[in-house]
Amino acid sequence: MSVSLFFTVALSVFAYSTVTSAEPVQYCPIKDVCYQVAVPSVSAEANSGNIYLQLRAPASYSWVGFGTGERMADSNIFVIYQDGTGNVTISPRTGTGHITPRYNAMTQVELQDGSGVVDDVMIANVRCGNCSTWPGGSISLASEAVDYLAAWKTGDAVDSDDPDAGIRYHDAHDQWRFDLTQGTVSGDANPFVGVSQFDNNNRGVSEGSFADPRTLIRGHGIIMAVVFVLLYPIGSSLMPLFGKWIFHASWQFLAFLLMWAGFGLGYVASQRIRLDFNSTHTILGTVVVCLMVLQPALGWLHHRNFAKHQARGLASLAHVWYGRALLIMGVVNGGLGLQLASASRTFVIVYAVLAGVMFVVYIAASAYGEYKRRMAAGSYERKS
Ligand code: HEM
Ligand code: HEM
Ligand SMILES: *[C@@H]1O[C@H](CO)[C@@H](O)[C@H](O)[C@H]1NC(C)=O
Ligand SMILES: *[C@@H]1O[C@H](CO)[C@@H](O)[C@H](O)[C@H]1NC(C)=O
Repeated sequence: MSVSLFFTVALSVFAYSTVTSAEPVQYCPIKDVCYQVAVPSVSAEANSGNIYLQLRAPASYSWVGFGTGERMADSNIFVIYQDGTGNVTISPRTGTGHITPRYNAMTQVELQDGSGVVDDVMIANVRCGNCSTWPGGSISLASEAVDYLAAWKTGDAVDSDDPDAGIRYHDAHDQWRFDLTQGTVSGDANPFVGVSQFDNNNRGVSEGSFADPRTLIRGHGIIMAVVFVLLYPIGSSLMPLFGKWIFHASWQFLAFLLMWAGFGLGYVASQRIRLDFNSTHTILGTVVVCLMVLQPALGWLHHRNFAKHQARGLASLAHVWYGRALLIMGVVNGGLGLQLASASRTFVIVYAVLAGVMFVVYIAASAYGEYKRRMAAGSYERKS
């Protein structure tokens, strides 16, 4: 009974979604940089005619663009940048390889209502009259898997209404496939006005597309934040609080392994969008995790030394202060990462507050340890 109910509901949801997904398909390779395509059913049937595109990105981007194909060469590319008067320039270009794509005057593009720089977001709602064929190739407007690519560049506004304006080399790029049959809309009119589509959800991305880089980045961020803001400081506090080295060492070692898993995810994500290895976050992060390799070794050296002499040696000082320095660098680097990923304000606040709280907890634990040590040394002196 409940099983058949389940199937009835599932089937009607399925039927509903296949019949009435009269919504543009959307892909956002990174947060707030989104590309949409809508194909009017008349164009899908004729495999020619108007299609509608939307490109959207914060005004902190110098330009963003997307196009058809698997590589720049022979791609039908659409780039937007600010025109300097509060609107955007839509610039259709033809990819010719790994060089700046140049304006292609044959593509019939026209900005539609809703375009402009609104609340620091660049939006281009575009009608394209003949976008299914171009000098380098063609697509079927009724295809379930069309290759798309995108690239973006943060930085100064281009501020030009010249569709052939110079643009600078991208920060990163991405590829995916749209199922255009899911982006079929009924009327032949701008589908981007009067509807709330300002979300970051991917829709109509074909199966067999690549892993969503944002999921990788989010996983990386959460793991690294947990490791550097919670696990390492807690593990460091365990030592002065309980004085059991094996407790501290195993806790920190687990955090150390998790840190490498988080680094791995970050690496895969940066490869996935071909992020150039030139941001402070990626460089400092790599330096910190590599330097961290010495820390378990220093801890072990200290432990061996302490077991023999019952006193702190050079290795102890090195382990304690090197460790503290790396932890601070790690937490700061996490902040840079949040900036790079343009994380939400809530996320940044939670991160900063947790980091502050853990800092205080650790200082208190460490001071308590020092106090215990002084007391022990004092009573020893009195005894002797
Ligand atoms: C501003 C001028 C541009 C220059 C100088 C340029 C240069 C390059 C270079 C050197 C590569 C190979 C390096 C790599 O794989 O990371 C590349 C790849 C790529 N670019 Fe560009 N590019 C420009 C604009 C664009 C635009 C406007 C787009 C798309 C909207 C784009 C999309 C891509 C994609 C998807 C790749 C990887 C696929 C491929 O190798 O073709 N690029 N570009
Ligand atoms: C990545 C891994 C590690 C990190 C980040 C780390 C970090 C730290 C920090 C910050 C302290 C200072 C605590 C305080 O303020 O009193 C400390 C102390 C200590 N650690 Fe580690 N540790 C790690 C791994 C290890 C390992 C693997 C061992 C042992 C084999 C170890 C043994 C010790 C010992 C014995 C102390 C006490 C030193 C003293 O009070 O003189 N640690 N560790
Ligand atoms: C930008 O230009 C388009 C096309 O001319 C127009 O429809 C739109 O309203 C303009 N946007 C702004 C903010 O002026
Ligand atoms: C697009 O349409 C224009 C005008 O109809 C035409 O001159 C041009 O060749 C077409 N471009 C392509 C790539 O089909």
